[in-house]
Amino acid sequence: MEYLIGIDIGTSGTKTVLFDTPGNALFSHTVEYPLYQPKNGWAEQDPNDWWNATVLGIRAVISKVNIDSIRGIGLSGQMHGLVMLDENDDVLRQSIIWCDQRTQNECIEITDKVGEKRIIEITANPALTGFTASKILWVRNNEREIYDKCKKILLPKDYIRFKLTGEYATEVSDASGMQLLDVPNRRWSDEVLDKLEIDKNLLGKVYESCEVTGEINEEASKLTGLKKGTIVVGGAGDNAAAAIGCGVCKPSKAFVTIGSSGVVYAHTDDVIIDPKGRVHTFCSSVKGKWHVMGVTQAAGLSLKWFRDNFCCSEIEIAKLLDEDCYSFMTREAEKSPIGSNKLVYLPYLMGERTPHLDPFCRGVFFGLSSIHKKNDMIRSIMEGVSFSQRDSLTILSEMGISINDMVACGGGSKSEFWREMLSDILRCNVKTVISEEGPALGVALLASVGAGIYKTIEEACEVCIKFNPSIEPNLQNAEKYDAFYEIYKELYPSLKKTFSDLQKL
Ligand code: XUL
Repeated sequence: MEYLIGIDIGTSGTKTVLFDTPGNALFSHTVEYPLYQPKNGWAEQDPNDWWNATVLGIRAVISKVNIDSIRGIGLSGQMHGLVMLDENDDVLRQSIIWCDQRTQNECIEITDKVGEKRIIEITANPALTGFTASKILWVRNNEREIYDKCKKILLPKDYIRFKLTGEYATEVSDASGMQLLDVPNRRWSDEVLDKLEIDKNLLGKVYESCEVTGEINEEASKLTGLKKGTIVVGGAGDNAAAAIGCGVCKPSKAFVTIGSSGVVYAHTDDVIIDPKGRVHTFCSSVKGKWHVMGVTQAAGLSLKWFRDNFCCSEIEIAKLLDEDCYSFMTREAEKSPIGSNKLVYLPYLMGERTPHLDPFCRGVFFGLSSIHKKNDMIRSIMEGVSFSQRDSLTILSEMGISINDMVACGGGSKSEFWREMLSDILRCNVKTVISEEGPALGVALLASVGAGIYKTIEEACEVCIKFNPSIEPNLQNAEKYDAFYEIYKELYPSLKKTFSDLQKL
């Protein structure tokens, strides 16, 4: 038997999965690590944690197989994070990650230097706090001594690639989220780099997602147990990777995911840009194609925040029942009615991208009353996140992107209750993939193409991705949700100024 490995460097942990070549998961290992929030709106992680988690994961999943039969490795990961290396390839500071919101001034700087229209023409997106370019400028503006020592800038999964192969490289889907890529032409933009005075030598070489970017080197082989020379392909940012893991590689196919962030993602054959910049347009991991996606900053992150801060007893009970705490929490939420007894949650714990592009807004429970219990709050979090995903879907349809095939994936979609809620709130059929490995499967399939097992990624998806039956929206429930969605939509405009005033205090 021959094998492929998919590694997903996520926000809550790194998941390493060994697959056979038809895409069946054989062994999986996840190692978790902390998220540091030194200030309100800031978010950092330690790249060494990602590397340690990767080494442990690889060792765990390959221990029972012949390493000569591992045909290739694919890397997926949280997008946009800034990893800075010095001349000895040591990490210079903790990574400022995707949901960090400290860079509003740098976004103004980017817009001023490149031009509001031009930055969208080249990078397909307006300057955004989540993206890497503004994080680079923040370090230059605030930690000049670190910036001056920096010799290479990598994204999270590309740092792992460097540790595995010694190559400084990236690929088009993740590089799109740096805001330094010419997205229509799939190469670094000299114009943006020049205007922002960022040296191109700081960046890695850009590949397509299926291309081989390097091989396991001596040192990585010793640490992980992998065979020296095993190929590592470009891989993809976690969303473009999840797309492949869900078979979303052709027009009119889309997925909705609830991981730490929440995403509604649609494949497109052409570059389609929202002139208001509310959704992102990036290269896809399918060669020569693109995608559009709306992002909810704190989707699963909202539920995790609630679990970690208010659910000590639920954590204990779930342990006693030998059950996952989130399953226990969502079962509790089911006991609350649609609308959570008139409680509406805005999931803006880390500011918001789609549809507001506002780093200063924050989470809200609206309508809190003394009748509310914890289960109402959990349900309102789930509803608020799903309403935010409806915002994303509405924008995609305003842009003329028609979707007739919607897959639900990510941790949140494991809950049947949340899937039904999504189907009702989005008013569309929702199906799941039989394999739950998402991004890890996606990048393993990209590796299968790089290794020559399948000719194209479309063929790999055709062979390997199988679906469970769709669930259909319950129209009576959908109507009830609509009434609460109307209230949800009104809240942000009413609070916008107050969020900003609060931030200034
Ligand atoms: C996408 C984004 C998140 C991260 C973390 O733009 O920031 O989806 O990739 O999952």
